[in-house]
Amino acid sequence: MNHTASPPKGNPPLPPLQQIPNTIASVSDYEAYARDRLSPQAWAYFNGGSADEHTLQNNSKAYHRLQLRSRVLADLDGAHTQLELLGHTLAHPFLLAPVAYQKLAHPDGELATALGAAAVGAPLVVSTQASVSLETLAQSRHAPLWFQLYIQADREFTLQLMRRAEDYGYSALVVTVDAPVNGVRNQEQRAGFVLPDSVCAVNLTGMQPSTKKPTQAGTSPLFGSGLLHAAPTWKDLEWLISLSRVPVLVKGLLTAEDALKARDAGAAGIIVSNHGGRTLDTLPATIDALPAIAKALNGELPILLDGGIRRGTDAFKALALGANALLIGRPYVYGLAAAGAPGVAHVLQILRSELEVCMALTGCPTLADISPAALLTTPYRG
Ligand code: FNR
Ligand code: LAC
Repeated sequence: MNHTASPPKGNPPLPPLQQIPNTIASVSDYEAYARDRLSPQAWAYFNGGSADEHTLQNNSKAYHRLQLRSRVLADLDGAHTQLELLGHTLAHPFLLAPVAYQKLAHPDGELATALGAAAVGAPLVVSTQASVSLETLAQSRHAPLWFQLYIQADREFTLQLMRRAEDYGYSALVVTVDAPVNGVRNQEQRAGFVLPDSVCAVNLTGMQPSTKKPTQAGTSPLFGSGLLHAAPTWKDLEWLISLSRVPVLVKGLLTAEDALKARDAGAAGIIVSNHGGRTLDTLPATIDALPAIAKALNGELPILLDGGIRRGTDAFKALALGANALLIGRPYVYGLAAAGAPGVAHVLQILRSELEVCMALTGCPTLADISPAALLTTPYRG
């Protein structure tokens, strides 16, 4: 991936492709098509990470360090990628991660994503900051929908948001806990990214604005701003979980300690994530954080993971080190920007078929057969 900022291009964005060219063979092939169809500002928003983007890059690079062990002549008759996850039977272990403001990528935004997800049976985790309302999406859905919740300063509104999602059939809640403040988004700053008037977080319409104190000259920029006054804590998470009618997953964990706290708070699952390298630069790649978490949880809760998955082999390695399922973010947004719903479906289809090839060549007929033994080196032996 090319993560470096480049100067704004002169040409206006192209319209979405009507047909997917045969030359698109891999997930990364979608990037250039997406970039040509996004404004430089929107590209910086979707593509960028925080600060120098070490974490963003390491999320992918860390997979390249892990080598696979091929196993030959295994009996692969009846091989499949099916799994059970929180009451769903899924045909494959890929979900679509919550990504805000998808109308910046395609005129139909999240509606096109939901359609693409439905075509390949992938659950879509709808962002609190989606640009299509959770109700509209639910009315048009075919894919399983989960709702991602940012705990808002207005806790009563937060509860209402959760109830709206439950009432409209969202079957799980994903509480994202790693972004109480925005990361240092230098790529966005340099590109001059601001949300256009036509795109907004429609689910949050009607919310009381947070009671932010005016910053006094000389006070610390973040700690003196009052922004953290309403930042959520473990108590808020416990409160939400106690009131939720659907399973709650906690997204944005990178340590065994926090994974155990999430379990103790009543989480039904966790998502190992560094927010796609968008919050704190130099956090570890998620695949490097996974083994210690998997060891601590010892199979008690399902573990999902996202960040940097661009190949079926990446997904396989995460499954080998303890993940039960994977989410992808930017890859499907690039499919969406390039070609709408068919682009989203194609990205998922590519990953799924690459995963199947990897399983076949490592002698693993089912997901349950994928273990650390499939890797030549494991980064953690604790
Ligand atoms: C995100 N992510 C995110 N996460 C979340 O919980 N709520 C959100 O609204 C968003 N919004 C968002 C916007 C954009 C543009 C990106 C790229 C990411 C994080 C997302 O769910 C996921 O953790 C990462 O995208 C996974 O990394 P990859 O697959 O993009 O490398
Ligand atoms: C982001 C927020 C919306 O990563 O989570 O842009």
